[in-house]
Amino acid sequence: DPNSTCHACLRLDKYVFLLIYTGPDGEKAWPKKYPFCGGVFQSPIDFHKDILQYDSNLLPLEFIGYNVSSTDQFTLINNGHSVKMYLLPSMYIRNLPFEYTASQLHLHWGNRNKSEGSEHTVSGKHFAAELHIVHYNSEKYPDVTAAMDKADGLAVLAILLEIGSFNPSYEKIFRHFRNVKYKDQMVRVPGFNIRELLPDRLDEYYRYEGSLTTPPCYPSVLWTVFRHPVKISHEQLLALETAMYCTESDDPEPLEMVNNFRNVQEFHERLVFISFREGELYECFYAKKQCTVTCIFKRKSRLYKNDWPSSKLSN
Ligand SMILES: *[C@@H]1O[C@H](CO)[C@@H](O)[C@H](O)[C@H]1NC(C)=O
Ligand SMILES: *[C@@H]1O[C@H](CO)[C@@H](O)[C@H](O)[C@H]1NC(C)=O
Repeated sequence: DPNSTCHACLRLDKYVFLLIYTGPDGEKAWPKKYPFCGGVFQSPIDFHKDILQYDSNLLPLEFIGYNVSSTDQFTLINNGHSVKMYLLPSMYIRNLPFEYTASQLHLHWGNRNKSEGSEHTVSGKHFAAELHIVHYNSEKYPDVTAAMDKADGLAVLAILLEIGSFNPSYEKIFRHFRNVKYKDQMVRVPGFNIRELLPDRLDEYYRYEGSLTTPPCYPSVLWTVFRHPVKISHEQLLALETAMYCTESDDPEPLEMVNNFRNVQEFHERLVFISFREGELYECFYAKKQCTVTCIFKRKSRLYKNDWPSSKLSN
């Protein structure tokens, strides 16, 4: 199949557990074996104006235990379709309907010729790559396996990556890629502050109910996709795009691990809630008596109004 020659992970017969994104056994065929992949609430999606709705109740998340001491260690592993780092059970997030404990993080990316490997897109635009930090609902479930098929089981943070300056925090993971070149290889990574992988602004994000982006595609994920991308250098992105293989080290036909992103899914009659106002700030009024602030936003020459109690405003 000439359309699939440069894509990894095509030999379903040999590696039944390999994830396949393109060719005859590609993502369009996932539902045959994994019915949820053809079902409702699927991810990723494209964020475009028609489906976005501002929600003033969306607070910034709080990250507890994210600053991991360098004497602790994470395990980084090549699982044959991504590079995954197991996190510590002492890490969790607050300000969601439940407390969610960290499980692992992993990445999705494109290839050296087409650095458009993010899963979520914004107005149809791909970013270079995407980091997912997976958490499970530890108030209701004992572990991630028990949680992953439950409607309120998972919360995933997504960070869009774009090319910019060198990122020393991502390098704390990326410098170990040469030790996880092949499937099933693993390496220890000294602890560091996982908060450094997130964008500076944590208050602006997209929030919606969706699914795992890999089979079995359970519709169990409360997504938080940060609005502001994080920069990594061109060299760092190239390292991500070229460092790893889906195959084991002794495989005579190595397959490059590239293009491990799922295409955006249908999103009819659903909404994405956003914690930020789209459009330009037009003007604000402070009503002293009621102690509220009203701001007018201008978008596509239409005006939108929003009120806040001034106690909720910080600056
Ligand atoms: C990138 O392009 C080169 C030259 O066209 C080609 O040989 C190579 O297979 C491509 N690599 C990937 C990963 O698509
Ligand atoms: C993270 O922890 C280290 C010590 O383990 C400390 O030096 C550093 O200031 C902490 N960083 C933050 C942002 O709290």
